[in-house]
Amino acid sequence: MPETTIVIPKPDDWHVHLRDGAMLRAVLPYTARSFVRAIVMPNLRPPVTTSKAVAAYRDQILALLPPGSGFTPLMTLYLTDATDADDLAQGHADGIVTAAKLYPANATTNAEHGVSDVKKIYPVLERMQKIGMPLLVHGETVGKDIDIFDREAVFIDRTLIPLRRDFPELKIVFEHITTEQAASYVAENGGKTLAATITPHHLHVNRNAMFAGGIRPHYYCLPVAKREQHRQALVKAATSGKPMFFLGTDTAPHADTAKESACGCAGIFCAPQALELYAQCFDDAGKIANFEIFASRNGPAFYGFPVNAEKVTLQKQTAPIEIAAPIETADGQCITPFVPPSPLMWKIV
Ligand code: NCD
Ligand code: ZN
Repeated sequence: MPETTIVIPKPDDWHVHLRDGAMLRAVLPYTARSFVRAIVMPNLRPPVTTSKAVAAYRDQILALLPPGSGFTPLMTLYLTDATDADDLAQGHADGIVTAAKLYPANATTNAEHGVSDVKKIYPVLERMQKIGMPLLVHGETVGKDIDIFDREAVFIDRTLIPLRRDFPELKIVFEHITTEQAASYVAENGGKTLAATITPHHLHVNRNAMFAGGIRPHYYCLPVAKREQHRQALVKAATSGKPMFFLGTDTAPHADTAKESACGCAGIFCAPQALELYAQCFDDAGKIANFEIFASRNGPAFYGFPVNAEKVTLQKQTAPIEIAAPIETADGQCITPFVPPSPLMWKIV
């Protein structure tokens, strides 16, 4: 009999965009409900580029948590060409900044202030390597000569491989991988110094889904979904039980008006049913027994945190569960959650 109920340590989400202001207020409960800790991305407008700004952003999040919430935001600092290594190291030592995020300039939403050439931040990376601070990378190389579907594979060759050669002890998380090239590079080279997060939406949709019957802006994110063979490689990696792959939703809410537009922005709001989406994928792959290691164990092990003591129970239903409805922010914006192409049978109980 396949398992129909699983009880696992309550997971952490190792990649979220919580935004600020009214959007933060509206989306925070969804992440705080399903996860104990979350790595909070710093690509606000303006980006969170100093330890002081990181502390202020953390305070803003903490102030919006309901009393008694056990949720802990783990904060990140947005690297720029001008990042001050001393400030970053101090923020890390003070327990304010958990990790730093490398956005190659213009690679994604609010990445205009990102790093123009990694060589420019070599002194910062040197320091991070020394103090054991993780570097989180948006792994895409952007250029007029690079097809959007090839950006991730090009990043491995042009940036990641040289970076790991120059900083062999630096802990790197290759965020939201989308290709078989990334999955096999991390499977072959991952361990103490390299791991990858995988999102629920990249496990559920390939690039065809973005164009099924018309253009579907709510399936558009960066890195963009790839061919079916890549989705299958991601499913294989996530469900493999290997220690270098772990949960990171990349939930990235945007107002519907910004997504359903002539120039719609990248980002998928998957927080409301993230755990259910992952569980479904593991079940479909016949690997539900490996869900706990991916969702609850590998992330803490890589970051050096304890596994959470609290438990969560997921149960397979006999009929599909209801898909999360759009939500509204206090300033009247509507945000549409990710709707998978096929039904979800798993539910948090
Ligand atoms: C993210 C966002 O909207 O902040 N968008 C996305 O498509 N994933 C940024 C990111 O993580 O690339
Ligand atoms: Zn992201």
